[in-house]
Amino acid sequence: MSTHPDTLTGTAAARTAQHRRYLMCRPEHFTVSYTINPWMEPANPTDTAKAVRQWQDLYDAYIELGHEVQLIDPIEGLPDMVYTANGGFVIDGVAYGAKFRFAERVPEGPAFMDWFGENGFEVREPVEVNEGEGDFLLVGDTILAGTGFRSTGDSHREVGEVFGREVVSLTLVDPRFYHLDTAIAVLDPVEGVADGGPEHANIAYLPHAFDERSQQVLAERYPDAIRVSDEDGAVFGLNSSSDGYNVIISPRAKGFEAQLRERGYNPVLVDLSELLLGGGGIKCCTLELRR
Ligand code: ARG
Repeated sequence: MSTHPDTLTGTAAARTAQHRRYLMCRPEHFTVSYTINPWMEPANPTDTAKAVRQWQDLYDAYIELGHEVQLIDPIEGLPDMVYTANGGFVIDGVAYGAKFRFAERVPEGPAFMDWFGENGFEVREPVEVNEGEGDFLLVGDTILAGTGFRSTGDSHREVGEVFGREVVSLTLVDPRFYHLDTAIAVLDPVEGVADGGPEHANIAYLPHAFDERSQQVLAERYPDAIRVSDEDGAVFGLNSSSDGYNVIISPRAKGFEAQLRERGYNPVLVDLSELLLGGGGIKCCTLELRR
């Protein structure tokens, strides 16, 4: 058992849940009125009330797990604002702002930067096109950075300058997996969580979402990673959020659920099927606020 009253203790593998602070946005104005990824079909009807109910399940799950959730007000006319992961990238109280690729989402950039500024974060305005934690994932001390569809290679250099950390560029090649957080899940987000320290901070990923070079880089850096099947990837199984022990995933990702259990993680199932109509899932609706 853990001796810290504020941490939950995992199984024999001794995984420990860590306290997290997240930013979310209630999808009060959610709909699909334009197409900027292959999942979005404006001709299909959306059910905003259902989106809100499902989103609430995710919010409640975080609270039940003891995490803290802050909210940004939704803005009418910005239906994708629910996907807060794209609103920026935050480490040590510094918020690197987003600069969206598509006109429909461009106004979200300043809206999120205003929120960061008003809530005590040091804001760094981006020069380069980048979609925040959708394409930047912190694994131990390293930033994994995605490109190919949204964030540019230049933003990888910029994010490295802002945070003074190693950046590993990865290229996405399948349009269904257009953000890095649709193809990689960070399982042990903070260094030293897994036995052995930061170099063992672990991930799960969908190999086919990446080009050859990136697959090689991932295989070399994360030999113990969980490789997720195409089937589980296709239901956005990797678009999940982990506190080091509890991993919130889609109930459709059956194989991934079993893989997580084998490794001593605790899968928590939350269905965001309505939000998937916009091409987003659990991780997309979650931005980590690292103080
Ligand atoms: N409709 C949104 C877009 O295409 C979905 C964003 C999903 N977010 C994510 N972090 N993957 O930009």
